[in-house]
Amino acid sequence: MALERTLSIIKPDAVAKNVIGEIYTRFEKAGLKIVAARYKQLSRAEAEGFYAVHRERPFFKALVDFMISGPVMIQALEGEDAIAKNRQLMGATDPKKADAGTIRADFADSIDANAVHGSDAAETAAVEIAYFFAATEVVSR
Ligand code: TYD
Repeated sequence: MALERTLSIIKPDAVAKNVIGEIYTRFEKAGLKIVAARYKQLSRAEAEGFYAVHRERPFFKALVDFMISGPVMIQALEGEDAIAKNRQLMGATDPKKADAGTIRADFADSIDANAVHGSDAAETAAVEIAYFFAATEVVSR
C-alpha cells in the first residue's frame, strides 16, 4: 500500500440533499484525511475542462449541465491506498449497480446524478487535484 492523494467531488445532487457531512464522515471513518477543500459553483468552462476526456461521449452535455446545476464540494483526500479506497466508498457509477452501503447506493438517484466523483488512477488524481488546487493549498497532516 502507498500513501496516495485523490480528488473527490460531492456533486450538486448530494450537496442539495445536505449530506456533505455524512459523506465526510465516511471518508474519515475509512482513514482518509481531507487535505484541501473548496465549496463552489463551477462555471461551464471549468466543468467542460474537468470532464474533457468524455467530450465525445453522448452524455457529455448532460453531465456538464448537471455539474453546473448547483454548487459542489471539492476535496483532496489523502491516505493509504486513497484512490481505490475512495472508489470503494463511492460504489459503481450506476447507483443501481452499487453495493449496499456505498455512497452512491445510499445517496445517488441515477447514473447521471450520482452524488460523487473520485479519481480513478494515480495519474488522473494528480491532474485533477492540480485542476482545482494550487500546490500550496494541499496540506498534509
Ligand atoms: P465515468 O468516469 O465512467 O464514471 P465514474 O464517475 O464512476 O468514474 O463517468 C463520469 C461521469 O459521467 C459519471 O460519474 C456520470 C456520467 N456518466 C453518465 O451520465 N452516463 C454514462 O453512461 C456514463 C458512463 C457516465
